Amino acid sequence: MSRTIIVSNRLPTKVQRSDEGLSFSPSEGGLATGLGSIYRADNNVWVGWPGISVDEEEEREVREQLRTDSMRPVFLTETEIRDFYEGFSNETLWPTFHYFAQYAIYDQTHWEAYVAVNEKFCQAVLELAGPDDTIWVHDYQLLLLPQMLRAVRPKSSIGFFLHIPFPSYELIRVLPWRRQLLEGMLGADLIGFHTYGYMRHFLSSVSQLLGYQSQNGLVEVGTRSVLVDAFPMGIDQAKYAEVAQSEQARIHEQTYRDALRNERIILSIDRLDYTKGIAQRLRAYELLLQTYPEWRERATLLMVVVPSRDQVEQYKELKEEIDELVGRINSTYRTISWNPIQYFYRSFPIEELAALYRMAEVALVTPMRDGMNLVAKEFIASKIDTPGVLILSERAGAARELSDAIIINPTDTNQLAEAMHEALVMPEDEQRQRMGAMQALVKKYNIHHWVELFINRLTYSKLKQETLA
Ligand code: UDP
Ligand code: G6P
Repeated sequence: MSRTIIVSNRLPTKVQRSDEGLSFSPSEGGLATGLGSIYRADNNVWVGWPGISVDEEEEREVREQLRTDSMRPVFLTETEIRDFYEGFSNETLWPTFHYFAQYAIYDQTHWEAYVAVNEKFCQAVLELAGPDDTIWVHDYQLLLLPQMLRAVRPKSSIGFFLHIPFPSYELIRVLPWRRQLLEGMLGADLIGFHTYGYMRHFLSSVSQLLGYQSQNGLVEVGTRSVLVDAFPMGIDQAKYAEVAQSEQARIHEQTYRDALRNERIILSIDRLDYTKGIAQRLRAYELLLQTYPEWRERATLLMVVVPSRDQVEQYKELKEEIDELVGRINSTYRTISWNPIQYFYRSFPIEELAALYRMAEVALVTPMRDGMNLVAKEFIASKIDTPGVLILSERAGAARELSDAIIINPTDTNQLAEAMHEALVMPEDEQRQRMGAMQALVKKYNIHHWVELFINRLTYSKLKQETLA
């Protein structure tokens, strides 16, 4: 029976080391959480890195443990983690694709590690994939993999999905390895993006840098044609709705409410990342407390920042900036019985996240750039019987769908502070009406729908090629 081999740098399970040995827990990040709850169907297998460098004995343990949950680990050495993962993936591609070109580093050693690790992934997939298996490659860490696989398996069905924005040609053209990266992606039969905007940018780069023309999303690459399309990713809506209503989530919620008494909760949940607009959001909250003193002691910003990529310089600096801002705002405005910001620098299990989503009156999702942003959709899915307001950045992919949110420009501090006030005073009727419309959308375009649509398009694209051949 044919199956789908999912390939991404990050596995949905991460391995950590403690005094008691290795521990296994769910990974954070939209790719892992989004696909993590459904990939096991139909004998599928997920190939990826477990997030830690291990010795030989540990390698066996990790391999065994993950095998029972349909995963095949690809292990990276310390040098590969530094040059491929932290280096080329997160100091070159991540900033460039999110319009932070000023943070990008161009280093030949990093590039060589990127090529070598993509080859390592290629070997791991080839060992596993039969001729009828579909191979679905994910995200910016593996842009070269589709072409590498194609060279060995010209007939295989290969899909590629990019989970981050694809930026304008003006950013892509700055990359010294721009041609290789685009050619790498074009090894796939189908290339998917979250929005039409990203897709247009890709087609424009392909045309300007490689000279390949396209019609109706079909790019002619020599004798092959590659289909390019937009597939806005959804979430496992049913799972979030269920967890939000669970006994466990209700108990957590009650505990939090008792601790915070009757304060209105503004919620913010992100990985620590400069793309997420966390510092700008804190400044806007400070402005809210200055401009509308009536919210002092009546509103609280509950801010979860999940540690991420903490060996990368820009992330270390951002951590310091956030610590400083939180310290300043809390020390300026706090009273004996109230803290303006409840700041958590760690990750939470899904039942506790669900309790936070349930109890928040307002969710602040205000990234500078974000491929999609699943937190926005999880907040909506968790608000089954309660109203609530989503404040959403116009530069998150999710804004293309969730137009009933309060849409803001994340660099406009005044607008953001005003939006928080507007959300806090919004009549319940209006909240329910906006939330209801967004809930219907999140329910309909869920993760199952997304996977089905992508795989169907991939099958279609393959069939079309066979008829043309
Ligand atoms: N998340 C998590 N634990 C936490 C905080 C967040 O598992 O303590 C998850 C969250 O539920 C969401 C994902 O991390 O599914 C973040 O995905 P998103 O698309 O919003 O952003 P990304 O991190 O992929 O840039
Ligand atoms: C984003 C990326 C994913 C990545 C995740 C977490 O969602 O699109 O590819 O896995 O962030 O980042 P990390 O570097 O920890 O894998």
